Order: sequence, then C-alpha cells, then structure tokens
Amino acid sequence: MPDLYPLARKLLWQLPPERAHKAALRALRLRLGFLVTGPQHADSPILGQSLWGLRFSNPVGVAAGFDKDALVPNEILNCGFGAVEVGTVTPQPQRGNDPPRLFRLDQENSIINRMGFPSAGLNVVEKRLSGRRRARGIVGVNIGKNRETADAALDYAEGVRRMAPHADYLVINISSPNTPGLRDLQRREPLEALISRVMDARSDARVTPPLLVKIAPDLSTDETADIASVCLSTGIDGIIIANTTISRPSETTNALFGQAGGLSGPYLFERSTKLLSDVYVLTSGRIPLIGVGGISNAEEAYAKIRAGASLIQIYTALIFAGMSLAERIKSGLTKLLAADGFVNISDAVGVDHRRDPRTASSKPVQTRTPPRRDGPATQYASLQDGD
Ligand SMILES: Cc1cc2nc3c(=O)[nH]c(=O)nc-3n(C[C@H](O)[C@H](O)[C@H](O)COP(=O)(O)O)c2cc1C
Repeated sequence: MPDLYPLARKLLWQLPPERAHKAALRALRLRLGFLVTGPQHADSPILGQSLWGLRFSNPVGVAAGFDKDALVPNEILNCGFGAVEVGTVTPQPQRGNDPPRLFRLDQENSIINRMGFPSAGLNVVEKRLSGRRRARGIVGVNIGKNRETADAALDYAEGVRRMAPHADYLVINISSPNTPGLRDLQRREPLEALISRVMDARSDARVTPPLLVKIAPDLSTDETADIASVCLSTGIDGIIIANTTISRPSETTNALFGQAGGLSGPYLFERSTKLLSDVYVLTSGRIPLIGVGGISNAEEAYAKIRAGASLIQIYTALIFAGMSLAERIKSGLTKLLAADGFVNISDAVGVDHRRDPRTASSKPVQTRTPPRRDGPATQYASLQDGD
C-alpha cells in the first residue's frame, strides 16, 4: 500500500491545527494507520537494543504530547515505532489553556504550542492502559501536575503510583513552558526533593518501572551541570532531552513566531542536540538519554545517537511528513550504522565523544570505515563548533 499521507495532509490542512490532530488520532483509532505508513519491513537486528531490561526493537519513538490521553498507543506502534510515550497526563482532568493554542508554521515545518497540559486525567488514562491489549513495542507514560496544584511533588507522586503498573517506563515532565512555575522544578534543590519524593512513591507501587526526567532546552551551563549532577546522585534511570523551546530564531519572516509557547521542529535541532551532547559528557555516558527535538530524517536521528542518545523521539516532523517517517528513519539509520561499521546501534551511542587514545586524534573512533565526509559526523562537528 503506498503512503497516502500527502493526500490526507491536504484534507487535514483544511482544519484548524488542533482539530486536524484530533482527526488524525481518530483515523488511527479506526485502524486506518496502514494507509499512511507505506510499505513496512521487519526491524533490522542492528537497530535492536535492551535498556532498563526493556527490549526496543528499534530506537524510533513518538514523543509525548502526540497521544496525550493514551487513545491509540497500539495503533502508533503498529506504524513501525519502537516506542510511544503517552501523556502528559495530569492527576485531575483539566482543559489546558484557551484556544487558539496550537500554531502550524508551514514554511518552517515548525509548531508553536501553548496547550498547557489538556488532559483526560489519571482515571481515564489508567482505564485505557489497563484495558489495553499488550502489543509489541514499548509504552512510556509522561506525568505532569495540574495547573492549580501548589505542591507539585504530590501530583507527580500520585501519577507515578497510579501509572507504574501500566507503563514500561515513567517520565516526570518538568519542562513544559506552558504551565507556570513548572520549569523552576529543574533547579538543583527542587529537583532533588522532587525526584526523591517521586522515587519513594514508585517504591510503594507493586511494579517499579524505570523513571526518567524530561528537561527543557533553554538551560544555562550551570543549570545543566546541576541537573546532570542531581540525576547522577539520585540514580534517575534516564533523561529525555528536550522539550520545546521558548527561544525564537533571530531572523524570522513569519509573524507566527511571535506567538507565546514552545517552539518545536527544525529550529530546535541544534539547541537540543548540543544539550544532549553536554549532558552525555557531564554524566560520563552513565545514564541512558533519549534525544528529541527537530528530528525529521535518518541523518538527524543518527546525529543524536552519535551525540549520546540511546533512543530518539519525534513529534513535529510527523505532522508534516506523516507516520511513514518511522520506516524511512529506520531504513536510513540501518544504512548509516552499517556504512560506519557498527554491528549494533548501542555501539554508536555517544561515539562522537570517544577519542582514539592511541592517536589522541579528534576523530571519532571505532568506525571500521571512515565516517562519510558529508555525513552526520561532519555535520555534528560543525554543530559543536557553532556553540
Ligand atoms: C503540540 C505539542 C504538544 C506537546 N505536548 C507535550 C506534552 O504534553 N508533554 C511533553 O513532555 N512534551 C510535549 N511536547 C513536546 C514534544 O514531546 C517534544 O519534546 C518537542 O516537540 C520536540 O520534538 P519535535 O521537534 O520532534 O517536535 C509537545 C509538542 C507539541 C508540538
């Protein structure tokens, strides 16, 4: 079956962005995903790896916010993704910010959103996930706080306790720019206190999935170092880097860049990859990282992996390119890994940071064939130079 997304996109583009997204979720729920996935192939063994005792058949996941209320996790996985992260789910149902709150920047393949955690709430999501037929693939649950809750840790602890039995992994999301005060939880002391209370809550649950934290791309050098050190000292299982940015490109022609909210898509790529790279170094590669932000092709996915990501996630590019992107990225990654002589994806994680001790050269090591001159290694080096 050919990929019909270009046609579907024309129809979806007739609707306001939020309604278009709801229509796309409805189509997935009606099992129409096969119309937009294109030809599917079994995942190459080179892409498979185990992390936290979970088997990821490929590293390509759908980021949080796409399926906030866990309506279609299985249907998303059936499009070829190795994982999907549902949520952000808040304890109580809430409507989020007033519309309009989602803006599509067509020329720039970008999105600005200030959704503010609209959520069906834990009861609904718990019911959906507990009644779900377990399919292949990994389902993570991303947890947030209600806007009005003063003691944030109470909400996160509640989310972790309730979702632990239904999630392959849990994420505490402290990085959305659209809930007032949320990003302050990323500072050293509040973060330490939050993680310790959430870990206590997790140990009360009868199953204890890995616990990850999702951070913002707009952190100073000191803030980044603090987060890395807290993650190491608390024993957090993983870090997702990054959420949307509140920054804007310096030169823009599109007036929509003036909308308040978090920007996602290509502009986020460099910033989020630099942060990923920094955190990988600061944590000495000891904590698995998930790279997200501006990925729209296999080369960008590979650059994140080389910078330190064990897994990657996508959101915005799916809106513009459709679900068949999973297959395209997997097939491109398979070729890129093989061309660089890797036997398994896990060998490529963070390879841009490894130097050959014998030659002390600045070239990335262990590739059996030299990285292509115009390939991701070169591209990544230029990103490092730029910052
Ligand atoms: C419309 C929209 C809603 C989002 N909602 C959430 C959310 O609820 N929780 C979360 O952790 N991230 C959320 N995100 C952020 C994404 O998960 C991702 O971190 C970010 O968009 C960067 O990736 P991308 O450039 O591939 O989109 C949202 C992003 C978009 C575009």
